[in-house]
Amino acid sequence: MQTIKKLEIGDLVLDVPIIQGGMGVKVSGSSLASAVSVEGGLGVIASVGLAKKEDLAGAIEDISRDALISEIRKVKAKGLPVGVNNMVALRDFERYSRICAEEGVDVIIAGAGLPLKLPEYVEGSSTKLIPIVSSRKGARVICDSWWRRYKRLPDAIVVEGPMAGGHLGFHLDELKSGKAPKVEDIMLEVKELMGTYEDICCRKIPVIVAGGVFTGSDIARMMKLGADGVQMATRFVTTYECDVADEYKQAFLDATEEDVTIIASPVGLPGKVIRGKFVERILAGEKINFSCPYRCLRTCNPTKVNYCIADALLNAADGNMDEGFAMCGSNVHRIDKIVSVKELITELVTEATECLSGSEEKEVLKIKAT
Ligand SMILES: Cc1cc2nc3c(=O)[nH]c(=O)nc-3n(C[C@H](O)[C@H](O)[C@H](O)COP(=O)(O)O)c2cc1C
Repeated sequence: MQTIKKLEIGDLVLDVPIIQGGMGVKVSGSSLASAVSVEGGLGVIASVGLAKKEDLAGAIEDISRDALISEIRKVKAKGLPVGVNNMVALRDFERYSRICAEEGVDVIIAGAGLPLKLPEYVEGSSTKLIPIVSSRKGARVICDSWWRRYKRLPDAIVVEGPMAGGHLGFHLDELKSGKAPKVEDIMLEVKELMGTYEDICCRKIPVIVAGGVFTGSDIARMMKLGADGVQMATRFVTTYECDVADEYKQAFLDATEEDVTIIASPVGLPGKVIRGKFVERILAGEKINFSCPYRCLRTCNPTKVNYCIADALLNAADGNMDEGFAMCGSNVHRIDKIVSVKELITELVTEATECLSGSEEKEVLKIKAT
């Protein structure tokens, strides 16, 4: 009987091939990450915006650094594996990556840009590196550049499709017109490409699919197509253990399909969000005044953008949904209850296993019938 396969990223072996996607600005902190790792998946802390809003008026760099270290240590103290999601667009990308290496983080998952110098920042550590890509081209640029400069290749790669939450590696019009390629197609292209790099480094480079994976049957389908694992985020927001405010979780429970929209973000990429008062103001082109104490993004010019994404996400993380917004994946409308991480992972694994063994039984029957 085929059962759900473990996800092996070098010597990191996950019994459950599910990575919990990093969710920025206090959505995935140590509480959620620990709960996922306890269940055999990989819990991931998002490094962006972990400090308390009221503290940010002080020495921002030290406070953010201390907050990240504290969250990492809370998971590591339980003897659990932990990943950290670092956004390449962050001004502190290098600093956060170096902290992760120093703190013995198991895996850095790098999205929102091409992490071309990442191997340099973790040199001498055993931290594994997993870039997030949305195209074969992105994967090739990273691999060629890392191999040329550092003789290193990714330990695994996340392929993120247009149904994912947060910032997306597609053009705004591709997303709005529904013309962005399907994650399944991008995954197959990236998998084929990784085969060539696997020949170079003589080891496996697991391919992990992200974006719109919602049920155990989705996981089974991706694995049958050739994925080694999945990265899921939207479903983990509505868990008791998720670090974000209850109002944020409630926005997930209330969201309809029509509430999901795409906005231009100061990150320089389109972002998928749930409509609310604040989003309506942005969509209407209003300039929402702000002062910028954070300087968090390399890609943001505070004099040119019409709102501060850090303020908006910090407000939402605190439950003030009228002054901010929740980011979400396309399937958010399918969520109808809050569950524990244990319940969610058990449901996903049970269903995936049933689908995988069911399809094997059907194959046997087909062979017997012929
Ligand atoms: C609320 C929210 C916040 C997110 N924040 C980040 C982030 O800070 N960095 C990042 O690389 N991806 C971020 N993502 C993307 C997820 O890590 C993940 O890859 C994606 O959402 C998976 O698709 P799914 O939500 O349909 O499961 C975010 C997603 C959500 C829903």
